[in-house]
Amino acid sequence: MRIIAIESTCDETAASVIEDGEIKSDIVFSQVLLHRKYYGIVPELASRAHMEKIAGVISAALKKSGIEYKKKGKTFFKKVDAVAFSRGPGLPGGLLVGRVAGETLSRFFKCPLFGVNHLEGHVLSYEFENSKINRKLKYPFIAMIVSGGHTELWLAQAFGKYKLLGKTRDDAAGEAFDKIAKLLKLSYPGGPIIDALAVKGKADAIKFPRPYMREGHEFSFSGLKTAVAYHLKDNYKFDEKNNFKIKKQDINDICASFQEAIVDTLVYKAINACEKFKLKELVIGGGVAANSRFRLKMNEAGEKAGINVCFAERKYSGDNAAMIGLCAWHKLKSHENIKNDIDINPNLTIDKKATRKQGTKAQGQRKTAGGK
Ligand code: KG4
Ligand code: ZN
Repeated sequence: MRIIAIESTCDETAASVIEDGEIKSDIVFSQVLLHRKYYGIVPELASRAHMEKIAGVISAALKKSGIEYKKKGKTFFKKVDAVAFSRGPGLPGGLLVGRVAGETLSRFFKCPLFGVNHLEGHVLSYEFENSKINRKLKYPFIAMIVSGGHTELWLAQAFGKYKLLGKTRDDAAGEAFDKIAKLLKLSYPGGPIIDALAVKGKADAIKFPRPYMREGHEFSFSGLKTAVAYHLKDNYKFDEKNNFKIKKQDINDICASFQEAIVDTLVYKAINACEKFKLKELVIGGGVAANSRFRLKMNEAGEKAGINVCFAERKYSGDNAAMIGLCAWHKLKSHENIKNDIDINPNLTIDKKATRKQGTKAQGQRKTAGGK
């Protein structure tokens, strides 16, 4: 079975080919350099970059996988069984680019087109190991999605059957990392750089609040962001460029203490959800799942509570098209009649019953440059 997949929800333009359970190509063009100077994603720039890059990225994926090959100077294409693209959630411009590219490919290869939920891709990507679909998720399990646009807990009953338990009321975990990095004038995206600086800092240097909100499955990170902002205002002066004058070691300590507060919250919420539903399997996906402190503390907590913690390999934690192909692979293999929708939806949820609660944001409104 041969699948071409496309990912373009946010600031990565990606294409991948999966053949008989193996990732044959996985091309990702990251737009981070384009957005870095704004400390966040500029939707208009993102849409244009997707439009400019998508053809080249797909072409590279087809060539690398061997779908497109040359013989005696002529170009040939192998048979393709399906094309998949992310239909949401995400920024509308990128989603449209992905949909048009997907439909064009499906007509060219005369095969079905699958619309995939990007967040489902993040959860399923645990199944990749050494570039193959080598691991199997054990349903039912608790899924935690921690990315730049989302922080959610799901009850995953079977492939395609999910119940949303709770999500963030304001900022997503990755968004909080990005905003604190912006406050400290570090870089974008903030997660990897805070992760690196935190290693050199003391996690107990500053006691930032842990937004546990006790029993519920919802999250809120904006108060933590405000606490860091007040800490900076109360303790540091501005330099002539209007940046805080902070010693290097203090920055490391702030990063470590802030990261610890986020990590403690995520670990608490994940274990709490597993215990509430008496489940021993926890699957974690999304960009923040690459965080080294989170992986360490989550694994330790899982071991203590007898919960099997499943993290995707680091290279598949962030946005990629292979995870979208993996969802289509499951859809094709599934014996159940899973509805295939190819309409784009910037606010797509995994749980049809879960409507957007007041105060929550669509991915299209998130972490864009200039946001507070
Ligand atoms: O899943 P993803 O690649 O894109 C979205 O769908 O949003 O997640 C990107 C987010 C960014 O906010 C980035 O700062 C965060 O993931 N991130 C991290 C780390 N690597 C990426 N956050 C914390 N620690 C990391 N090592
Ligand atoms: Zn993502």
